[in-house]
Amino acid sequence: MSHADDHQGTRRDFIYYATAGAGVVATGAAVWPLVNQMNPSADVLALASIRVDISAIAPGTQLTVLWQGKPVFIRSRTEDEIAAARAVDVSELPDQGAENENLLGDADASDENRALSEDGTWLVQMGVCTHLGCVPLGEAGEFGGWFCPCHGSHYDTSGRIRKGPAPRNLLVPVASFVDETTIQLG
Ligand code: FES
Repeated sequence: MSHADDHQGTRRDFIYYATAGAGVVATGAAVWPLVNQMNPSADVLALASIRVDISAIAPGTQLTVLWQGKPVFIRSRTEDEIAAARAVDVSELPDQGAENENLLGDADASDENRALSEDGTWLVQMGVCTHLGCVPLGEAGEFGGWFCPCHGSHYDTSGRIRKGPAPRNLLVPVASFVDETTIQLG
């Protein structure tokens, strides 16, 4: 874990770095104590961007980081997961909107409109069920994506709701690549 000093004197520039090296759960758990220890005010937390080192995320695994008090899933998808996500007819989906904060307008829920990278490898989404806010489980459910055990919502490998009470696809937050191995949230 490293903490870089990217402060440039304004709250807006508050940037926090987390590395993926410590593993999925450990990294997510480690982010919070450090941020908490720094004790930024609530409005700083609301504005905060974080940078995440994704170099240690192997294909077919997911890193969960805590951002603005919520889990964010950063997944390196396998070829099969991408193919399954891209084979879906959008017109069959319960929520046909991309639910992607990086896109303007009425982008549809095609996998291309949800993945962060053009080749589809990287999928970044909030780990918050759109029903009542539980944290879905990865690699679970009837569509091989995520499953929320609270009331039985099934999401596919693109994080789109396919079955169960959740009304919307998992939200794709503002995210971008800083470089090949670093993603910035916010
Ligand atoms: S909170 Fe996820 S299904 Fe109800």
